[in-house]
Order: sequence, then C-alpha cells, then structure tokens
Amino acid sequence: MKGLILSGGTGTRLRPITHTSAKQLLPIANKPVLFYAIEAIRDAGIKDIGIIVGETKDEVKAAVGDGSMWGVDVTYIEQDAPLGLAHAVKTARPFLKEDPFVMFLGDNLIKDGITSLVEEFKKEKPNVQILLARVREPERFGVAELSDGKVKKLIEKPEDPPSDLALVGVYMFDSNIFEAVDHIKPSWRKELEITDAIQYMIDKDFTVTPHIINGWWKDTGKLEDILEANRIMLDCLEPRCDGRVDKSSEIIGKVIIEKGAEVKTSTVRGPAIIGENTRVTNSYIGPFTSIYFDAVIDGSEIEHSVILEKSSIIDVHTRIEDSLIGQNVTIIRTKRKPKAYRLMLGDSSRIEII
Ligand code: DAU
Repeated sequence: MKGLILSGGTGTRLRPITHTSAKQLLPIANKPVLFYAIEAIRDAGIKDIGIIVGETKDEVKAAVGDGSMWGVDVTYIEQDAPLGLAHAVKTARPFLKEDPFVMFLGDNLIKDGITSLVEEFKKEKPNVQILLARVREPERFGVAELSDGKVKKLIEKPEDPPSDLALVGVYMFDSNIFEAVDHIKPSWRKELEITDAIQYMIDKDFTVTPHIINGWWKDTGKLEDILEANRIMLDCLEPRCDGRVDKSSEIIGKVIIEKGAEVKTSTVRGPAIIGENTRVTNSYIGPFTSIYFDAVIDGSEIEHSVILEKSSIIDVHTRIEDSLIGQNVTIIRTKRKPKAYRLMLGDSSRIEII
C-alpha cells in the first residue's frame, strides 16, 4: 500500500499567515502539521509516500527532504494548479500505479493516527474506505448521509447539510478510484471533488465503507482550529528541558524547553513549548502556548497562542491571548512621540486592541 499526502493548494482562509508559506507547514506544538501526517502513515506500516506539491513546493521539499528523517521514501508530485482533490489523485497516477493507497490531506490532524483504520481496510478490502466525524458546522465540509450503516450520499459543503457527519481528510482507495476521477466534472468551485468521485463509486455499486471515528480530528484551516489543535497536541507531550532556565524562573506543569532556548526571570506555565534558540526574559508564558524557534519574548505576557519563528514580542504590557503571530513579526512598545499605534499589517490581518 502507498501513501499520498496533499500539500498543494493555497491557504486563503489563513491569510495573511499563509500568503507566502505553505499552510501544511504551520507548526502545531512546534511541529509542522504535515509531519503528523507523515508519521501517521509511517506508523501504519507504509513506507512509500507521494506528496502533492504546488506553489509552495520549495518550502515543503526543504522541510521534508527525502523522508529519511522518518525512515520513509518520499516522492514529490507536482500539481500545476490546485484543481481539486480528485485532480490531485489523477496527477498522482503514475506514482500510485495499481496499488491501493491512503490519501491524507496535509492540513488534517488525527490525534490517534490511522494504523487501525489501515488494518481494517487491508482486511476487508472495500474499494473505498471513508472516515466520518461528527462536527458542529457540517456546511464547512463534505457531508455524508447514511442509511442502514451504508453511505447513501456525499455532498461537498452543502448549504443545508443532511447530517452532522463530516468527511475527514483521510481516505483509502483501491485503483478503481481512477475510473471515478476520470468521469466526474468540476464542481461549482471549479474543482474536481473527491467527494463527487466517491459518489460516482457509490452510484456504480462499488463498496464504499464508512467508518465513524470518535477520536479527536481537526482540519487546521482556521485560526480557532489551529489554537485547538495546538492545545490538544501540547497536552500529549512529555515535559523536558534541553535548554537553559535560570534560578529566578519558574517552570510549572508540562513544559518543553528545546535545545538552545533560554528562559530568564520568567514564568512558563504549561502545557507550553519554547522552541530552539528562543529567548524568554522577564515574561510570562501561559498554558497552551507554542513559541517556535529563534523568537524573542521580553517583558511580555502570552497565553493560548502560537508564535512562529523569528518573531519578537517586546515590552507589550497587556497580555496577548488567542493569537497566531506569523514569522518574523515584531511587536514592540515604543517611547516615541506622538504616542500612537504604528502598524505594518498584511492583507486580511486582524488585530483586536484595548
Ligand atoms: O478537511 C476535510 C475536508 O477536506 C473534507 O470534509 C472535504 O470533503 C474535502 O473536500 C476537503 O475540503 P477543503 O475545502 O478543506 O479542502 P482544501 O481545499 O483545504 O484542501 C485540502 C488539502 O489538500 C490542503 O492541504 C491543500 C491540498 N490540496 C487541495 C487542492 C484543492 C491540494 O494538494 N491540491 C488541490 O488541488
């Protein structure tokens, strides 16, 4: 069996954070979300992994390399334009050949992995196995209508969802999926939808098995989802200190301090992670905060937030909460007169001030 991870597309919903970088590389508990997918596939015993890449291919390639970090073989498959998940499957055909495969959307995170699901697929050999999860806003997803435990209908982002069962971004297929992706037409959003390809399989009486998962799953498409995913994954980590903490600092609860990181006259209350070579001085880092590498936090308080690499937060006296701060961002208190906010914000930024 092979693995296919989709890491192409554009990250419009997370603009401006992913204007220039791949949304699949956003760190959750300081690890790119894409890496969790690679690990889940590797842990299910699959070594041969194709990664669909688009505009952000250079970054994805630089982060993942040849897969040897995980003991897998990675093949990059270039998709000319993000024309849909089924289009990605078509593009990957020369790599997939006739092998069954698991397709994993590179921005999806499944806490408990996929090992048992892959086992089930291998044992029962349906043509398609889909995963479903109960969600609060089904209209944001592909939605399934079941009848007697069988999939009757699948609809992509319906205005009026027939159920609260969303399609999780992990699918298992045998090679009959190629017939389906060759027959469907682009949807209203001009994409070849994998949902429509699976509906084609249902209509042609192929076996499509649904599996409702009860464990935690997230599509990390929006700010709230990133913060939630970060909360859940931080809580799973084992505390450790590979950096330096001075005597006047206090480390409370599950905290990871990475190599080269420094914490001085500060309090870090976990679950939290301080990335490589990051410096935290005279600050408070509260629960559910991830600070990525080479960042500087000085004289500030941060809680329930994700701060990306090389950012500086200096002398901000009001606590920063529920925030996602991009790469290389500087937030600094100024003594300059006139007293004013001086901002340089990307398109679609949002700041809340008090
Ligand atoms: O997250 C689960 C949902 O994922 C499902 O419930 C939906 O049925 C399914 O269509 C999909 O919906 P999204 O609208 O969230 O898909 P998105 O465009 O975000 O793409 C998912 C991943 O696939 C993302 O990492 C980008 C990548 N991708 C996307 C497209 C359209 C590609 O690599 N190539 C593409 O052409």
